[in-house]
Amino acid sequence: MKSSVKIKNKLESKGYAKINSEEFQYSQLELNEFIKLKEDWGNLPIDDFLMQIDLSYENKTYRLRRWGRYKIDIRKSQLTQLKHRPFFQSETYNKGAGGIERNFAPIVDKTYENIFLKNLIFFNVSNLPLKLAEISLNWEIYLHQIKVITQSDFSGKPAPEGIHQDDVEFFSVHLIERNNYKGGEVQVYNLEKELLHEISLDSVMDSYYISDKKVMHGVREITPISNEMPGERSVLIISYKSV
Ligand SMILES: [Fe+2]
Repeated sequence: MKSSVKIKNKLESKGYAKINSEEFQYSQLELNEFIKLKEDWGNLPIDDFLMQIDLSYENKTYRLRRWGRYKIDIRKSQLTQLKHRPFFQSETYNKGAGGIERNFAPIVDKTYENIFLKNLIFFNVSNLPLKLAEISLNWEIYLHQIKVITQSDFSGKPAPEGIHQDDVEFFSVHLIERNNYKGGEVQVYNLEKELLHEISLDSVMDSYYISDKKVMHGVREITPISNEMPGERSVLIISYKSV
């Protein structure tokens, strides 16, 4: 996997970077593996913790998800699957969703071996603005497979907690599929919650990267374009956390 986009410089200077799908270059093997990886979004369980986070929750299942972790040795380019545990963010960084353990469904075991996924992680890590001393720290990779749904009678909220940080060092979001929705733009704010930039993910593998300690983010809700069928926004979120 390759790209000539200067993600590192943008993360360092602005705290965010966007990379368009056509700026990635893949091998045939990676493309084949992407098709297998994408199947996971056809079988995601319900996010059972929405009602604790969305204060206007009306019993509409608008978010499905799985999550999991690797340990990464950046110097050796080694990923090791970690045992499942509930997901936790500190309240300091996420007032709306932090402070509670959310035991999301685990990512399926075979996904950890997916070559597209692993190569994407190695590509992303090599583009993070890490200093030499930081590379040898202990890092974990968090994986979130998320699908947000909307129908004519309810909107889908990718981030019902509003403007927040994710309590990680960096994260990247990769569009897996979009069907029949408008909205879903990502808003990047400074730490004073002033809007800096808005990012739209339009094509499969349009991606953005965030330096989570530098900026805050939110995501606009989605509504269907045609009311005849649901709208669906499928993303892969990969977080990079020093532990
Ligand atoms: Fe977030």
